[in-house]
Amino acid sequence: MVEAGGLVGPQRNDSTTMTVRHVSNKVRYVSKTIKKTRHKRRRDHHHHVVPRVPKVLQELFVGCREIFKGPGTVPLPSDVNKLCSILDEMKPEDVGLSRDLQFFKATSAVKGTPRVTYTTIYQCDEFSLCIFFLPATAVIPLHNHPGMTVFSKLLLGNMHIKSYDWVDPVNSKDSMPPSQLRLARLKADSIFMAPCDTSVLYPTTGGNIHQFTAITPCAVLDIIGPPYSKDDGRDCSYYRDHPFSAFSNGESAVVSEEEGDQFGWLEEIEVPENSEMDRIEYLGPQPQIIEPCC
Ligand SMILES: [Fe+2]
Repeated sequence: MVEAGGLVGPQRNDSTTMTVRHVSNKVRYVSKTIKKTRHKRRRDHHHHVVPRVPKVLQELFVGCREIFKGPGTVPLPSDVNKLCSILDEMKPEDVGLSRDLQFFKATSAVKGTPRVTYTTIYQCDEFSLCIFFLPATAVIPLHNHPGMTVFSKLLLGNMHIKSYDWVDPVNSKDSMPPSQLRLARLKADSIFMAPCDTSVLYPTTGGNIHQFTAITPCAVLDIIGPPYSKDDGRDCSYYRDHPFSAFSNGESAVVSEEEGDQFGWLEEIEVPENSEMDRIEYLGPQPQIIEPCC
């Protein structure tokens, strides 16, 4: 069997090589090779060689453990800045990726709707660290993050990010009946090109709704605190956006015609087909839980 794209091992300067399979615009970590080097390896309790944890990934993990205190808590601005400054320094290699991977070089036309793949680096009740892999033209459709703070750091590729907040955040956690339109303010609508700064969605600004559209194959690291939980009322809703000018709903007193392009109408929709994702195992460097002694 011939597999398009084949196997590519990105080059790292330390002791690990991550191998990612690229088949029909999907990315898949399939194996991990540990090169024997004299200095840059260590062994766990079971004498397995484990990858060295990049400093920035460990700092990010420790920062998340300190800052995310569970449902109902929102990080302080100083804490948001702290996480952003760590994320701004992050490189693809810190999570075992490289721009040399075939997945990120793919230029062939995509057949049908390309599927998004994701991998979870770490998840607990307070936060989750995930990477999403989007082939070119793939979309993570417009969705919300009720009561959650979201940090998104584009590691590789070019991506269009669109985000909205509700104009009237009252009852923003309530589900809307289908076909009902609700006014939202456009917060971001631009193309991000890695390496670039982190974008943040805040739970207190009314909605924190976003959409990712890959222009080239992309990898984006998402930190979400707290994670989605249906049981705790943090389920994901999906939306379709309409231009402000498309509907008149007596809002013109609030929004002038000139400001119209800064707003949109959001319609809650059923879970779209292109929201389905494939999950792969994370085989990159694993941040370490270091409990304080005594
Ligand atoms: Fe999201």
